[in-house]
Amino acid sequence: MKFTADRLLLFGATGDLAQRMLLPSLCALHADKLVDDDLAIIGTARSEYSDEEYREFARVALEKFLPEHRKPAIDSFLPRLSYQHLDATNLEHFPQLAQKLGTVGRGISKGLAIFLSTAPSLFEPTIAGLAASGLAGEATRIGLEKPLGTGLATSRHINDAVASAFPEDRIFRIDHYLGKETVQNLLALRFANIMFEPLWNAAHIDHVQITVGETVGLEGRVGFYDGAGALRDMVQNHMLQLLAMVAMEPPAHYDATSVRDEKVKVLRSLRPIRADETVRGQYGAGAIAGAAVPAYAEELGRPSTTETFVAIKAHLDNWRWKGVPFYLRTGKRMSRRVTEIVVQFRNVPHSIFDGKGARTQPNRLVIGIQPSENITLSLMAKVPGLDRGGIRLREVPLDIAMDDAFAGPTRRIAYERLLLDLIEGDQTLFVRRDEVEAQWDWIDGVRDVWEDNGIMPKTYFSGSSGPEAAVALAERGGVTWHE
Ligand code: BG6
Repeated sequence: MKFTADRLLLFGATGDLAQRMLLPSLCALHADKLVDDDLAIIGTARSEYSDEEYREFARVALEKFLPEHRKPAIDSFLPRLSYQHLDATNLEHFPQLAQKLGTVGRGISKGLAIFLSTAPSLFEPTIAGLAASGLAGEATRIGLEKPLGTGLATSRHINDAVASAFPEDRIFRIDHYLGKETVQNLLALRFANIMFEPLWNAAHIDHVQITVGETVGLEGRVGFYDGAGALRDMVQNHMLQLLAMVAMEPPAHYDATSVRDEKVKVLRSLRPIRADETVRGQYGAGAIAGAAVPAYAEELGRPSTTETFVAIKAHLDNWRWKGVPFYLRTGKRMSRRVTEIVVQFRNVPHSIFDGKGARTQPNRLVIGIQPSENITLSLMAKVPGLDRGGIRLREVPLDIAMDDAFAGPTRRIAYERLLLDLIEGDQTLFVRRDEVEAQWDWIDGVRDVWEDNGIMPKTYFSGSSGPEAAVALAERGGVTWHE
């Protein structure tokens, strides 16, 4: 059903995500007049705030996390906010919430958008409370923040609970990587240009690398992270979504059904991995940007077998990608923050330059997603000269820095787009149930391989590029990680 919500209900409204991302994103949308004047935002959490106290809480968060040029909008944004204290495990609290929703905004609500960023253990009681208090009707859609389960079984359980109150076309599962500009730009690169698609297959591509490196460590998320680890925190969602966008067939349309149909086919063709196709790591002490940082176990306060780094050599068993490895790598406390995709093409089948003493290097496309957004295509070119001693060829980059190419448009953070899509009801950049379950199915297989083979995390120095074994994993396939 198509409607633009005029009430946005935030569960987990005092949490870290709300402070860092959701409130700043909403304030930015407000400042640019991208949300209607009548959009009322209702926060809810356990803390007992009045409306006024919550606005004060939000003001502090916005002062801290908004960029300077956005801060003048804070005063006019805050009146949109109100607050209702709620214990999601107590059904009796929901009628009050429903009542509150009736008293905010202008007139009778036309539509409600709900954003759930609470502990997953609260999903089920929250859904039950919403349904019982009449807040899950046809004019409500619900956004769910990860983690959506810890494996296929728990993910199904959550999906079933949500499905008991909401049909799939009103469920918005968030993977914030899909809200990133450069991730969407992948679709433009692949499907708005003629030259890549004919080469985008096993005949012309040797392998693909996807790296998500972070310099941060636990960041105080002790309770959550140690129970999750890098595989579930990063690979299950963000990295597999990136892989799906790189590998999918061209969708017929740019809409929720066509795009997600193609992604799920990719996710379902992931081959179960073997024990020698994966490496786990955990950061030891080291230095990031010259400053000493402690080991994971020290931050945690006890020894742990949770991985903070994963490398995987993945394969897609389908026609297009047969025999093309996808090397995935992610870790915390790595030498630099970088998200990038490297598409390594094959070499030319025959080089006319061999007899002239010159070697050709295979082309490489590097798609930088963050921190800088750029696309670099390495091409072979002749070194200028009269070539008396033979021809010399050299790789030269064809470099597009998005910031330079598009200096005008405002750069938006992922949640601005995703919140707006949730309010307006566009599911294209949200993850469908079959996708999330295909992702978990494959991830469960990886965990089984770890368990069956006693694969434990290898220590790596903070500030390095991960354990040596990850280098060896790539080298066994004749590949060097792109640094
Ligand atoms: C989150 C993970 O989903 O993504 C975090 O839970 C991680 O552990 C974060 O730090 C990375 O997001 P971004 O946008 O900073 O790359």
